[in-house]
Amino acid sequence: MISWWIILAIFMIFLIILYFASPLITPKALKLQSSHVLVTGGSSGIGKALAINVAKRGANITLLARNKSKLQEAKVEVEKHFLNKDSQSVICISVDISKDYEAVEKAVQQAEDKFGPVALLVNCAGTSMTGVFEEILPSEFKRMLDINYLGSVYVTRAVVPSMKKQQLGRIVFVSSQAGQLGLFGYTAYSASKFALRGLAEALQMELKPYHIRVTLAFPPDTDTPGYAEEQKSKPKETHLISEVAGLFSPHEVAKSIIEDSTHGKFFSYMGLDGYMLSCLTCGMSPVISMMDATQQVITSGIFRVISLFYLDYFDRIVQKCKLERENIKDDKKTS
Ligand SMILES: *[C@@H]1O[C@H](CO)[C@@H](O)[C@H](O)[C@H]1NC(C)=O
Ligand SMILES: *[C@@H]1O[C@H](CO)[C@@H](O)[C@H](O)[C@H]1NC(C)=O
Repeated sequence: MISWWIILAIFMIFLIILYFASPLITPKALKLQSSHVLVTGGSSGIGKALAINVAKRGANITLLARNKSKLQEAKVEVEKHFLNKDSQSVICISVDISKDYEAVEKAVQQAEDKFGPVALLVNCAGTSMTGVFEEILPSEFKRMLDINYLGSVYVTRAVVPSMKKQQLGRIVFVSSQAGQLGLFGYTAYSASKFALRGLAEALQMELKPYHIRVTLAFPPDTDTPGYAEEQKSKPKETHLISEVAGLFSPHEVAKSIIEDSTHGKFFSYMGLDGYMLSCLTCGMSPVISMMDATQQVITSGIFRVISLFYLDYFDRIVQKCKLERENIKDDKKTS
């Protein structure tokens, strides 16, 4: 009996030591005041909310997006939130980040000529679509990869050389909870978001010696124009399954992404589901805090058990919807 207490005590001491050791290996937070932040997809949704967030923290901001008039509208809105109106500004560059690497490089060059090297890059431009696998057009699979994956590669590729020279920087890839697990209806979208994971892990290992930190964000469903558009074509199964996680506001999501990336965290997640998924899917991802590592070690077994219940629940939804469809078909045939 006593030996159990000793083991428990040793374990507690271990945790306490880890807790106090964690700041030692945690990078210094990046100051956004008087630095250059570049946001792709910055004219709406989470991207615009991110721009507003960093405007409040005193940064110069470059917004990249395709639609000129939307960019202009976003600029006006972002400028309202400046911490210091005299020293901050926003520039907008209209470019399709998924098409032509040269155009992207030119846009980044133009931004750096004005504001200096990018200190924080947020790859937020993305698009989503849902549908049953065999009903998704083959071209849609390519479009998802072009925008969600290659768009992030191109802009990051253009920004990294000057970051390396500065030996300073933060890069955010905005993935999704659908980039942590595959769900009904997300075959095209999930694959493009999973691709960012491989990119982010490998790139972090390359950039760590240069004090550049990569953050992979897994926002939950967020109340944006893109989300509203997606609702229109969502299969019933996808609808019922994603209801489980709830809907967040773009400003909450933006705040959490900026906090995590300035602090150099590799994962950025929100809510209890987000916490569980990130512990569960940590794999061999980089970690900057022993506190986080300890939590991952301790929780992964129990979270796996919980996940089995979720999977069972999702499978039942899919099965039920299949039966419903078949019944409707049968009714049509008999009538
Ligand atoms: C923004 O950039 C301008 C140069 O275009 C510079 O003079 C100013 O100090 C910068 N402000 C911040 C907050 O970085
Ligand atoms: C650009 O955005 C405006 C709304 O601000 C919209 O009316 C217009 O259709 C968009 N243009 C394109 C080419 O998507």
